[in-house]
This record gives sequence, C-alpha cells and structure tokens, in this order.
Amino acid sequence: MADESSPPDVANVPRVTTKTVQEMKDAGVPIAMLTAYDYTSARLYDRAGVDVLLVGDSASNVMAGNETTLPMTLDQMIYHAQCVVRGIDRSLVVVDLPFGAYQGDPKEALQSAIRVMKETGAHGVKLEGGAAVVESVERMVRAGIPVMGHLGLTPQSIYNFGTYQVRAEEEEEANQLREDARRLEDAGCFALVLEKIPATLAAEVTASLSIPTIGIGAGDQTDGQVLVSHDALGLSTDFNPRFVRRYARLDETITDAIGEYVSDVRDRSFPTDDESY
Ligand code: KIV
Repeated sequence: MADESSPPDVANVPRVTTKTVQEMKDAGVPIAMLTAYDYTSARLYDRAGVDVLLVGDSASNVMAGNETTLPMTLDQMIYHAQCVVRGIDRSLVVVDLPFGAYQGDPKEALQSAIRVMKETGAHGVKLEGGAAVVESVERMVRAGIPVMGHLGLTPQSIYNFGTYQVRAEEEEEANQLREDARRLEDAGCFALVLEKIPATLAAEVTASLSIPTIGIGAGDQTDGQVLVSHDALGLSTDFNPRFVRRYARLDETITDAIGEYVSDVRDRSFPTDDESY
C-alpha cells in the first residue's frame, strides 16, 4: 500500500505518452529509455517495462556494423521504426532523424519528421544539436510532432569533435550547452538527451529545465537514463565506456548456444526421431 513517502504511480499507465514522461519528471519518478531496432526485441523490452523505446541511429553501429552513425538513411530509420512499433503495447517510441535528414533547410527537416510519423506510427522524433536546429524544432512542434533534443556528445558530429571524450568540461562549451538546452525547451522539445557530459553540469541543466532530461554518461541526477540495448545486454562487448552497465552477457550465451547447435549438426545428434516427420 502506498504511503506518503512512496512516489506517485504516474508510470503505471497502459500507454506511455509525452505527458506521462513529463508527469514522471514532476513526480520524481526516473524514466527508463532503451534503444530498439527490431520487432522481436521491442516486444521484449516493452514487456519488461521500458518507458521510452528509442529507435536510435546507433542502428548504424550495432545493426549495420558501421563505425559511425553517419551512413544511416531516412529510409533505413523508417524501416527499423516500423518494426519496433509493431512490437509495442505500452512504450513511447521515439525515432532518431538520421544525419542529412534535418541539418539543412527547416522545411526539409519538417518533411523528414512528417515521413517518420506518417510511415511508422512512432510517437515522436529525436534530433541532435542546439541553436542550429531550433527553427526546425519549432516547425515540427507547430506541426504537432513531439521532438526530443540531444546535446553533449552528439555522435552525428563526431568528425567535428574528433574524439569520443566527455564534452562540455570547459566553461565555454558548458555555457553553450546550458543556452542550447534552454532554447530547445523554449522551442517546444518535450525531453532532452544529455550524452557524455559532467554529472554536475547534467544535474544543473536538469534542475533548470521543466522538461525531462535523459542521460547517457551524464550521472545519476538526470530525470531518466538511456542505454544502447546491445551494450546493456552484452551483445557487443568491444565498446566499453564506463557509463555502460552490462545486465547480461548475451555474446557468451549466444556463441555457446550456436556452438552447441553446430556440434549437434556435425555429429548428427540433431535432429532426433522426435524432431523429424
Ligand atoms: O542512437 C542512439 O542510440 C542514441 C542514444 C545513444 C541516445 O542517440
């Protein structure tokens, strides 16, 4: 039974909406976000209670094997998003706009976001950057599209940064991030991802905004956390930043299971009579 010290049950909803995540922030209930790229996994993550499923352009790394997120196309993101949406009952689905689909003309950015919403059935889009994308965010929000911002170590700008090190450690970049966060909130973003920035800065930005922040490598004071599902499940263990916590070692589980299958085929112990017609 709930007492005065237990947090309100705002997350216990049949469908998570942008309103739910705002209510979660307001009630101090942490938001669990995870990436998903396909139907089968999305179904499992949704059943496990993930609040927000991000169809991340990290699909470029973990699904397609590219070194960066830059090669991802809008058509590929739409395909992954369609698969994820078919798998969910409860989670809010947010889709990354890929590199090249929104950085130029705000009208084209809006068209990209409209395609995602129309062709996938997802509930919102995410884009990277601050001041440079504010006009695009405003257009999308005016068109009725929920937008999640993304600041800090934004992977689509990796060639600009030249390194995957923590961002905004210097005061000038930290001030820029504070200002960008405020402008994204004013432009109508419903939430903001903060990636790989000092925990103290993330805490300060979180306290200064009324919209929820979702951290990845941004400490424990953001309103929610996000991980790439392949990292959390230990499917791709060649990527080892300290912000990743591995909740399973599926690389070993899968390699062992498939190794056993190969061996059963080789020694003809599979299939048995019971597995034949
Ligand atoms: O593409 C992605 O997976 C992301 C998360 C790391 C936030 O943007």
